[in-house]
Amino acid sequence: MPLTTSSHPVDLSGKNAIVTGASRGIGAAVSVALAQAGARVVLVGRVKETLEEVARGLPNDPVVVVADLGDPEAPRAIFEQAKDVVGTIDVLVNNAGGGDAAGPANTLTAGQADALWALNLRGPVLLGGLVAADMAANGGGSVVSISSGLSLQGMAGVSLYSAVKGGLEAANRSLAVEWGAAGVRFNVVSPGITRTTLGSWIADDEQVQRKYLEKVPLDRIGEPEDVAAAVLFLSSPASAYVTGQALAVDGGWGTTAPSPFPAA
Ligand SMILES: NC(=O)c1ccc[n+]([C@@H]2O[C@H](COP(=O)([O-])OP(=O)(O)OC[C@H]3O[C@@H](n4cnc5c(N)ncnc54)[C@H](OP(=O)(O)O)[C@@H]3O)[C@@H](O)[C@H]2O)c1
Repeated sequence: MPLTTSSHPVDLSGKNAIVTGASRGIGAAVSVALAQAGARVVLVGRVKETLEEVARGLPNDPVVVVADLGDPEAPRAIFEQAKDVVGTIDVLVNNAGGGDAAGPANTLTAGQADALWALNLRGPVLLGGLVAADMAANGGGSVVSISSGLSLQGMAGVSLYSAVKGGLEAANRSLAVEWGAAGVRFNVVSPGITRTTLGSWIADDEQVQRKYLEKVPLDRIGEPEDVAAAVLFLSSPASAYVTGQALAVDGGWGTTAPSPFPAA
C-alpha cells in the first residue's frame, strides 16, 4: 500500500477530523498537523474566540464546536454538531485533558475526582464510542487519545491524574478489540512533559526542569509538534496495522532508571 499520494508525507486530503482541546498547546499543534496533511478539522474547546483564532491559521475550511467535556451531554453534542457540518468523521483525537487535582490524596475532594474523570476518561470513551459506531458504518477510521507518561510512572501529588490516564489506556485496549473488526483503530499517545500551559510547571522553571531532564535521554522538554507528529502517524494509513497501542513521546523519560554508569 502506498503511504503517500501527495507531496506531504501523510495524505489526509478529503478526510474529516475532530480534535478536542484544540484551542492551544498539543491540540492546536495536532490541528495544524492534520490540516496541513489535508484534513478538514473540527476544533473543540470551551472558548469560541480561542478556537476561532486557531481556525484562522488552518486550511480546508475548519469548523469550531464549543463544548465543555465536563458536561455529560458534551460527547453526543460534539458528535452531532460535527456530523451536521462535515458528514463523515474519519479521525478523532481525544486530546482535551488535564484538570485541577494536584496534591497529596488527603487534600483532594470528591468534586475534583469527578471532574477529572469526566474530562480525561468519561468524555474520551463516550465520544470515541459514538464516533467509532459512525466510522464503522462508513468503512472505518482512527481514534487517537492523549494519555500521559504518568499512566505508568508513580509521582507524588498526581494520584487522580495518573489513575484516569491509566484508565484511558486500559479503555483504549478494550475499544481496539471492540471495534477492530469494523475497521476502527484505537491508539494512545503518551507525552512526557511538553511545552504548553499544562506542562509549564516544569518547562518554565529552570531548576525543576534540570532535575526532570536528568531522566530524559534526549535531554530536552517535548514540543507540542513532537506529540502532533505521532498523532499524525496514528491517524493516517501509515499505521493501518496498528491498534490498541500506547506510543510514548517523552524523549525516553519512561524508560530510564538511575544508573551508576555514564551515558554515551
Ligand atoms: N503538556 C504536558 O506536559 C502533558 C504531558 C502529558 C500529557 N498531556 C496531555 O496532553 C493533552 C493536552 O494537554 P496540553 O498540555 O496541550 O494542555 P493545555 O495547553 O492546558 O490545553 C488543554 C486544552 O484542552 C481544552 N480543555 C480543557 N478542559 C476542557 C473541557 N472541560 N472541555 C473541553 N475542552 C477543554 C483547553 O481549551 P479551553 O480551556 O479553551 O476549553 C485546551 O484547548 C491533555 O490530555 C494532557 O493531559 C500533557
